[in-house]
Amino acid sequence: MQQLIRSARTVRGAIVAPGDKSISHRAAIFNAIADGEATVQDFQRAADCIATLRCLRALGVDWRWQDETTLTIRGRGRHALREPDRVLDCRNSGTTIRLLAGLLAPQPFFSVLSGDRSLLSRPMARVVRPLRLLGADISAREGDTRAPLAIRGAPLRGVRYRMPIASAQVKSALILAALYASGETVLEEPAPTRDHTERMLGAMGAEIHSEGGTVRVAPLVRDPAPISLRVPGDISAAAAWLVLGACHPDAELRLVGVGVNPTRTGVLDVLRLMEADVTLEEERMWGPEPVADLTVRSSRLRGAVIEGELVPRAIDELPLIALAACFATGETVIRDAAELRVKESDRIRVTARELRRLGADIRELPDGLHIRPSGRLRGAAVSSHGDHRLAIMLALAGALSDGETAVRNAGVVAVSYPRFWHDLDLVSGRPR
Ligand code: S3P
Repeated sequence: MQQLIRSARTVRGAIVAPGDKSISHRAAIFNAIADGEATVQDFQRAADCIATLRCLRALGVDWRWQDETTLTIRGRGRHALREPDRVLDCRNSGTTIRLLAGLLAPQPFFSVLSGDRSLLSRPMARVVRPLRLLGADISAREGDTRAPLAIRGAPLRGVRYRMPIASAQVKSALILAALYASGETVLEEPAPTRDHTERMLGAMGAEIHSEGGTVRVAPLVRDPAPISLRVPGDISAAAAWLVLGACHPDAELRLVGVGVNPTRTGVLDVLRLMEADVTLEEERMWGPEPVADLTVRSSRLRGAVIEGELVPRAIDELPLIALAACFATGETVIRDAAELRVKESDRIRVTARELRRLGADIRELPDGLHIRPSGRLRGAAVSSHGDHRLAIMLALAGALSDGETAVRNAGVVAVSYPRFWHDLDLVSGRPR
């Protein structure tokens, strides 16, 4: 699908971002092994989280929609998942395959996890190796580095493991496996990553303690209690509107009920560093997660250096930040972000290549991007390369460019934000 985007004259309105993707996956997976039924409101009903739900159904878990975005899940308890009679298809979703690898490693049955072409090319040694240290019987294609993953359930033991890369998916996979191990597991993170797993499983009664980059996980002694919750708006989706609002010369946008877990708010810190006019109000808790209402207005942005611990806290938003940097005064450097090369696409290469088509002055670094101000961009034909975050970033680039922009392979926004085109029309004064 190709989508045409015209320059937005004004940017105004209020948006409710879709439910957080990371939290939705976790709410489904953790409640699947709980002792009883849970209701999850504002579940992100997009392709990635649907992939998780389908895998859970193949594992014997009952769930059903109460309405468009309210999901009820009947947990089977921690020892009653069923051997799937088919390959579990994780489609485009890294979170699905990595978290399920951790959950399935200790189950007393055989399972295979696979996915689409993009997922089959992504690194899996990062979960295979540490799971084997715990005693898992898991193998993978290309010397145990690529999916499909084949898992023969085995008894696991607790270990101490220093994670070489900052990855919440890997951390969460290991936490899930560790819940079934004999003895405590201690994980050390090189930099803080999103902690939704620790918060949610902790609220369900698991013994998980996190301090100074070390996470300690005790084996479960009983089934986790089900957790009903309302999923906060996804800050990774909201970030698109924050960048559009900050870069557009005539903008004011309000984003209601956005998750502001400090392990996810790197994008707010970066935008503040760039002197964007973003305010946060009404901070409150939805279950274990903080949420707030955000307002963004047209801003005079300045370039910034984005590196170190800030990077994992803004990892999915870095292409959007690169777009914002085109409209700033002064240079922006993003480094320590080599992980971007192994996301749904090589986000360093694609961001640089496609933004250059619109006239941006942007160059690849081995581990990031270097952006010089380009003033206004001009519409052109660009491609998402099948990556939902890049389709969204390029659509906003189009709304901020003169003339018309065509985004090829734009249907992939459905992976995380099916209502995206509707919301873009709404804020740019062209409701469908
Ligand atoms: C996620 C963790 C991050 C992020 C992804 C979602 C999660 O991936 O990029 O979109 O839900 O745990 P990594 O763990 O590979 O950094």
